[in-house]
Amino acid sequence: MEEQSIRVEESRSRKEKPNSDELIFGRHFTDHMFVMDYTEGLGWHNASIVPYQNLSISPAAMVFHYGQSVFEGLKAFRGQNGDIQLFRPKKNVQRLNRSNERLVIPPIDEDFGLEAIKRLVEMDKDWVPDAEGTSLYIRPFIISNEPYLGVAPSHHFKFVIILSPVGSYYKEGIDPVKIAVENKYVRAVKGGTGEAKTGGNYASALKAQEIVEKEGYSQVLWLDGVEKKYIEEVGSMNVFFKINGEVVTPVLNGSILSGITRDSVIQLLKHWDVPVSERRISMEEVYEAHQNGTLEEAFGSGTAAVISPIGELYWEGHHLTINNGKTGEISKKVYDTITGIQYGKIEDSFNWLV
Ligand code: COI
Repeated sequence: MEEQSIRVEESRSRKEKPNSDELIFGRHFTDHMFVMDYTEGLGWHNASIVPYQNLSISPAAMVFHYGQSVFEGLKAFRGQNGDIQLFRPKKNVQRLNRSNERLVIPPIDEDFGLEAIKRLVEMDKDWVPDAEGTSLYIRPFIISNEPYLGVAPSHHFKFVIILSPVGSYYKEGIDPVKIAVENKYVRAVKGGTGEAKTGGNYASALKAQEIVEKEGYSQVLWLDGVEKKYIEEVGSMNVFFKINGEVVTPVLNGSILSGITRDSVIQLLKHWDVPVSERRISMEEVYEAHQNGTLEEAFGSGTAAVISPIGELYWEGHHLTINNGKTGEISKKVYDTITGIQYGKIEDSFNWLV
């Protein structure tokens, strides 16, 4: 793609910012947004930062019918001296392009994508909250907006970035959540879209979530889509188990999302010389480890919640309490280190901040 400039139209009115203590995840949006169009033949063009507003889109736009869309999630943090830092943003832009590839959406120039994020955050930097645990969540996404009801890849797309000041994702914060192992529904199968960040994966997960929430669980633990035996993800996060001193996370197999927090956790554990392995892990193995007292910790990892410890797993009639339902040592250390780096309290020896 040719280097293009970003047109800027400043908002004439500014919205009132929510108080830090009432920041519900994903409910508030800033004053501006980034938009860019794709038309076959022309490529990506019309890059602009404009006042936050509704999109005007045909009801026949293909995204409404066949779901050809991708998204990303990353955060900007206010550091100790007030400066604003993004956490590993290039990884998100690279993953967006991998999702694009899977969903037959034209790639964006990665340097330009990162530049767009930086320019938009700079424009709305007053919206980056400074209270503990808060941040500015950045949501880039692409939708197919060609008005056409035939089932085929769209020729027109819109790339949008919106910003949302957020507090913690789960009301529990870093407190452990209760999880039910899902035996009926599956999230993804190899060859499907599980490793892409596309809305359909999240839509198909809602049913299971709705059912277990009524039973008092926060989320489900997803098993593989073929044998329903091997663990894949937890809710919309990657998952880790500490068994007998070793931390295990399911190996990326084509149906698991390649989480950036997942990668950060693995890098940290290796740096600390904590044994960590990416391999297949069955629910049977976790159950046995619980029975023989070697299941030490379990936690989910994701951009939104960072680390979410699992205090209880429900599986086939068994309630497995993990670490007495308390936040484990490794979960806490990983959480404190990642958030410490994000807020500039701990040296960024991995060069994760931009
Ligand atoms: C995350 O953990 O960051 C997620 O992917 C959840 C997000 C879709 C809200």
